[in-house]
Amino acid sequence: MIISALKSSDNLDNRSPIHPETVSALIKLEASICFESGMGEGIFTSDDVFHELGLKSQSREECIKNSDLLISNQPLTNDEVLLMKPGSTLLGMVNPFSNQELINTCASHKINLASMEFIPRITRAQKMDVLSSQANLAGYVSVLESASLLSTALPMMMTAAGTLKPARVFVIGVGVAGLQAIATAKRLGARVEAFDTRDVVEEQVNSLGAKFVKIDLGETGQTDQGYAKELTPEQIQKQKDLQSEVCARSDIVITTAQLFGRPAPQLIDNSTIEKMKAGSVIFDMAVESGGNVEGSEVDKVVIKNGVKIVGYSNLASKVSGHASLALSNNFNHWVCDFYDKETRKINFDFDDEIIKSSVLVFEGNILNERFK
Ligand code: NAI
Repeated sequence: MIISALKSSDNLDNRSPIHPETVSALIKLEASICFESGMGEGIFTSDDVFHELGLKSQSREECIKNSDLLISNQPLTNDEVLLMKPGSTLLGMVNPFSNQELINTCASHKINLASMEFIPRITRAQKMDVLSSQANLAGYVSVLESASLLSTALPMMMTAAGTLKPARVFVIGVGVAGLQAIATAKRLGARVEAFDTRDVVEEQVNSLGAKFVKIDLGETGQTDQGYAKELTPEQIQKQKDLQSEVCARSDIVITTAQLFGRPAPQLIDNSTIEKMKAGSVIFDMAVESGGNVEGSEVDKVVIKNGVKIVGYSNLASKVSGHASLALSNNFNHWVCDFYDKETRKINFDFDDEIIKSSVLVFEGNILNERFK
């Protein structure tokens, strides 16, 4: 079996789907492992480092054409899918909700497609959960980037030149990214408040030393996978109104609110931004899925009323070394758990919950109802 890993096709994504420190897991499979030349540039790892580990570099086209299993942390183009060998498998972060065409082409060209975004949220699959491993680092980066845009420091400092007050940080959405943002802001000495529609997170917020903002929105809750349920337009309006005072007193507001498979809810509008202090920062972590903040733009800092609205994408890639380490471990676990050493093939056992959930296309058929 030939396993190949591709270099990220997005110039802003410095991550590598294979990392020299974790590749031994794949090497043990005794498969032939190839990679696209230049794959490790974003983590300062030359081709030679991978060559010394026994991997073979190839052009992107050769990797795509020759592999039985192709690993990628970005979607492939349609033309690239058509270059793949029918019967081979694409394992990747393929952003399925925005890539119906890729799914259709995989089906018509008989490419099996396993989407890492669809790893189920069960304990056994946590080691493969790319959304969590990358969201955790993104939460950390959001605080550092926001802090770098403030004109003030985060911790309280009592100096001979006067007492400097700690910054106030408000985190909206306390999933994986939000929890790490809270922890990072606390470590840097900020006063942190947080809100989420899933009231089960109140205890987690408190355990990090932050304050949970109580906003009564009536019935909210979460799905069986732990994702937030969508609010009604009336509930969203109520949330906007009640949280605007917290935004107004904050130096940094970090929004992470997402709804799996649907556009992110808009939670901060111009009326709230107008109440905020000039020089404060709103970091919209949901900008790529529609945005939590009115007027946020992907990869831009938009200034409204002196408030900086940040919409950076590819956040985990800003710590590409650790992001790649975690990502490659996630990929490796999927491959190692389902690689059959006897047949030297992936064992597509659809009685396994992880295979059932992550494999979107198999032998020409689209399996997931959302994409049929
Ligand atoms: P996510 O990325 O889908 O959303 C981020 C956060 O935004 C969530 O906490 C969500 O409740 C919140 N949110 C949605 N609408 C909101 C609104 N109107 N206002 C405020 N907040 C809003 O969520 P993520 O990070 O993927 O995690 C969701 C839950 O799943 C967490 O509790 C996490 O610990 C859990 N989880 C469980 C895993 C497992 O294997 N058991 C793996 C990963 C996460």
